[in-house]
Amino acid sequence: MILGILQARMSSTRLPGKVLEPILGRPMLERQIERLRRARRIDRLVVATSTEAADDAIQALCVRVAVECFRGSLDDVLDRFYRAAQSAQPDHIVRLTADCPLTDPALIDHIVEFYLAGGYDYASNTLEPTYPDGLDAEVFSYRALADAWREADLPSQREHVTPFIHRQPARYRVGSFKSARDLSGLRWTVDRAEDLQLVRRVYEALFPVDPCFDTDAILGYLAANPEVAAVNSKIERNEGMLKSLTRDAEVLRARSAQDPSERYRKSEALLRRALGVIPLGSQTFSKSYTQYPLGVSPYFITHGKGSRVWDVDGNEYVDFVNGLASVNLGYCDPDVTAAVRTQLERGTIFSLASPIELEVAEELVRMVPCAEMVRFGKNGSDATAGAVRLARAYTGRERVAVCGYHGWQDWYIGSTARHKGVPQAVRDLTRTFAYNDLASLEKVLATHLGQYAAVVLEPMNVVEPARGFLEGVRELTHAHGALLVFDETITGFRFANGGAQELFGVTPDLTSLGKGLANGYPLSAVTGKADVMRLMEEIFFSFTFGGEALSLAAGLATMQKLQREPVVETLRRNGQRVLDGVRRLIESTGVGGFLSISGNPTWTFLNFKDAPSATLWEIKTLFLQEVFARGILTIGTHNMSYAHTEADVDRLLQVYGEVLPLLREAVEGPGVRRYLRCEPLEPLFRVR
Ligand SMILES: Cc1ncc(COP(=O)(O)O)c(C=O)c1O
Repeated sequence: MILGILQARMSSTRLPGKVLEPILGRPMLERQIERLRRARRIDRLVVATSTEAADDAIQALCVRVAVECFRGSLDDVLDRFYRAAQSAQPDHIVRLTADCPLTDPALIDHIVEFYLAGGYDYASNTLEPTYPDGLDAEVFSYRALADAWREADLPSQREHVTPFIHRQPARYRVGSFKSARDLSGLRWTVDRAEDLQLVRRVYEALFPVDPCFDTDAILGYLAANPEVAAVNSKIERNEGMLKSLTRDAEVLRARSAQDPSERYRKSEALLRRALGVIPLGSQTFSKSYTQYPLGVSPYFITHGKGSRVWDVDGNEYVDFVNGLASVNLGYCDPDVTAAVRTQLERGTIFSLASPIELEVAEELVRMVPCAEMVRFGKNGSDATAGAVRLARAYTGRERVAVCGYHGWQDWYIGSTARHKGVPQAVRDLTRTFAYNDLASLEKVLATHLGQYAAVVLEPMNVVEPARGFLEGVRELTHAHGALLVFDETITGFRFANGGAQELFGVTPDLTSLGKGLANGYPLSAVTGKADVMRLMEEIFFSFTFGGEALSLAAGLATMQKLQREPVVETLRRNGQRVLDGVRRLIESTGVGGFLSISGNPTWTFLNFKDAPSATLWEIKTLFLQEVFARGILTIGTHNMSYAHTEADVDRLLQVYGEVLPLLREAVEGPGVRRYLRCEPLEPLFRVR
């Protein structure tokens, strides 16, 4: 059943009482109802007005012309609509407003048919206006209306009923019904005295000839009488919407002004304590206050389950950090937990190797293209350092070319801005080259010809490899007698079961793996060609916990699940929705000047840029302040996990849908600093 709901009130701001203004002797509202009754696709029509005394007159009119009338909230029009629909329980609703006495019943039917045929949740001719203002009709499902009624919390969403739906194209299937001709410059709605004048002239000319005059007849009349069309041509479209968007901004500002330290009270107290005994207050740079602005961020998490984590203050987050991309199945994955529990009963570490080491190694050899032999470590840094030592031993050379981030150890970190404590002699051996820039690698390798042991790179991080880039790197590396090492600490078990090397079809000599190998348990691996790996017996790569069995059990369960279930496929599908949805939001909110999104769907990056009025660090800080407050955990990347649901992605997009307009307002208006309740992050250390 399709229910037409016509919203009407007496208290129009610009033309009070307009709905009862006479047009050829009958109230404007009655004229509109006359026309709407000819819409074949509307099964039932109800006028929804307010409970204000002034609107008694609307109810009286409804009684007189025998049309249903519902009375509800004056300002919360969404609530009025939902309640008007509730008793009728329609499948679909057509939203109409009582300022359109020239409404076109045939057009309404077309929009309904377009909506039904396209399987849309929402369709209208207003998203991309091509029809005269005043022929507006929106069609949407009762289910979408119920969602909006429950969840929408901004003034524009409550007042204009449908923005909650059509501004979430990632959540709802949204259709735009367009005219072949652009007639959007015409104004047939009634909001001002001039508008009413135009409509009266149209009725006077056409109604006596044919009471069912259609849009073509109106167009013909206006074309023949341009002085009538000009009566209201200077009035701007959509003034009402602009007003309520300004009110949205006020609400968002007030919301962001809530005292944040109350929300993070326990986190901040613990951080103060931690800073007394733990330098940085955290074991990992990326989890510290250097990345989470002080005063508006959580610092301590008590537990996680699936895609969610809870901080010490009890705030819940949908987590898109996921243990810095180490949790790829989700927190407390039941299969991994069960495997670890079984192993726990047998012991965690022994005086000799345990058989699970080779089970994991054999599984890894099956999954990763370059893997012929494997050694395990704990952190990604163990694996990258092991690969570099191995390459140095294999080639008898010392220099290394790097691109991306490769961990905390001297050989790599010495090449970054955070090199304090690394001997100059070690720093001199590592040189960086630029991603997607073969010439920059060529230059590095040519500077100390024949001295490079290895070229180490993340096969992809922020941007896709250009065509032929990875192949070119392999060729160049081998031409210079060096080994190619792919650092797949993040891309492994994420881009594909066999990592980026499987996805891009380029096989390196050695690979480092970590993070997603064991769904958050400490396990990493160096792997690669057997003739190189055998040299592990001659170098020293050995530590007490190398064969720690709980993490190996977690690793085995993780790899088996990756092969048994559509894990990567799911990361890609949900991640693609993030990528597309955020891209659309960036476009529709006009923040593209200082924000973009890129990366592989399973690991996407928000790229902040300086704006004329604010630095990228100020903008990023405001972004974090606002998304944390709304229960999204990210530090600018979306590290997808198998536990993320479509609803989690919807939530992310909904939150970004609120925060991005705020960023724009801050950047274009009074300045980002005015919105910050903390000092902005410092540009301390960037590696990507
Ligand atoms: C590509 C890459 N390599 C190496 C590492 C170092 O890993 P870990 O921090 O586990 O030592 C990381 C960590 O973020 C990484 O992303």
